[in-house]
Amino acid sequence: MIVIKNKTQIEGIKTSCKLAAQTLEYVSQFIKPGVNTEELNILAHQFIIDHHAIPAPLNYSGFPKSICTSINNVVCHGIPYVKDVLKEGNIINIDITTILNGFFGDTSATFPVGKISPEAQNLIDKTYQSMILAINSLKPGLMLNDCVGKNIENYLKPFGYSPVHDLGGHGVGLKFHEDPFVYHFKTNQENIRLKPGMVFTVEPMVNASLNWHVNFDESDGWTVRTQDGSLSAQFEHTVLITKTGVEILTKI
Ligand code: MF3
Ligand code: CO
Ligand code: CO
Repeated sequence: MIVIKNKTQIEGIKTSCKLAAQTLEYVSQFIKPGVNTEELNILAHQFIIDHHAIPAPLNYSGFPKSICTSINNVVCHGIPYVKDVLKEGNIINIDITTILNGFFGDTSATFPVGKISPEAQNLIDKTYQSMILAINSLKPGLMLNDCVGKNIENYLKPFGYSPVHDLGGHGVGLKFHEDPFVYHFKTNQENIRLKPGMVFTVEPMVNASLNWHVNFDESDGWTVRTQDGSLSAQFEHTVLITKTGVEILTKI
């Protein structure tokens, strides 16, 4: 069931989304060679707590940390560890979800560590662009997958890139993961008509390969990696469908 958010809920979600965006910006300043992902986790955790909020990932279905840190071929849900030290040339996605006064905001971005290859930079740029294209096409009355999955897949294909199929965006705001499921590839599954008051994420995970398949780490229960070892990038915004179009909520 897709919840249409009322005015009060939208105000609460907006405030949480703003904090998530501020946390992401804050943590991103510390990304450099030699820093480990647990340091980033602690910085984000403290920032969120200092702003009277809760990091949603912590203890979510047993997730052990406050943020996700996904390096290189890790698609998403990377767990921060002291042993995971950033190296020049890496790319890292930081995914932040806050709970403020009971409302959820969810955002992520992929960053370069020091100087990166033109290939890695191109993947980051095209992944960001695919998310923006999809978001900008959202409008009440249109079908969700015509805006998101279709635009993202069509845009990426000429570059030899592919959107991951096994994970997607989601309704968000009153809970971490709500309906609808947001597919980032072309599909006829569960296509829904957009209505004002819907709040969901657009968060394409993009492999630098035409192979979109992923492997789920069975020993830690979380880490998702590209099947073929290729790099993967991701960006995520929480968006609101308005009367006339769309508003990005996870902006500073
Ligand atoms: N923030 C992720 C998303 O965009 C979900 C992370 S679940 C966690 O949906 F448990 F790994 F935190
Ligand atoms: Co999300
Ligand atoms: Co997220």
